[in-house]
Amino acid sequence: MAISDLAIYPGSFDPITNGHVDLVKRTLRVFDKVIVAIASNPDKDRSLFSLQERIDMVNEVFADLRGRVTAASFQGLLVDYAERKGSTVVIRGLRAISDFEYEFQMAMMNHRLKPKLETFFMMTGESEFYTSSRLVKEVASLGGDVSGLVPDNVLAKLREKFKR
Ligand code: PNS
Repeated sequence: MAISDLAIYPGSFDPITNGHVDLVKRTLRVFDKVIVAIASNPDKDRSLFSLQERIDMVNEVFADLRGRVTAASFQGLLVDYAERKGSTVVIRGLRAISDFEYEFQMAMMNHRLKPKLETFFMMTGESEFYTSSRLVKEVASLGGDVSGLVPDNVLAKLREKFKR
């Protein structure tokens, strides 16, 4: 029996990039449904996009997969959120080696908190290996071209934010 038909894909998604999109689509080859779970941290939130903007952008990107991909926000511990949703699977993407230590620590901590929760790592697609939300924001804020790195709706929102 499968351990779970629902996977939780947590992150900041500020904003969602094509690397995230690729990961969601590949996750759907293994799991029936994915919740793109956007962490809300009102105390130290220095995000470019509001929580609602981030949720809306994700839902727009996956409009044709509605029913299988849902965007939602959560507060508090990820392990508690996953339990409330009835999932035992967390998906995270791994890019370069530099991601490993942080991801390893989080996976171990989450496992310690809830031993039934498994973190599944997927390698990011090669064309997204060097992309991150942070770099996309920095390049876009300085007038650089990030087309091809983010979905079209996100590109439009970035252009709106950094209109000069
Ligand atoms: O995209 P990010 O910023 O790398 O995602 C990090 C995220 C949101 C997955 C992580 O910070 C998280 O799970 N936050 C929720 C609070 C929590 O459970 N913290 C303990 C993690 S071991």
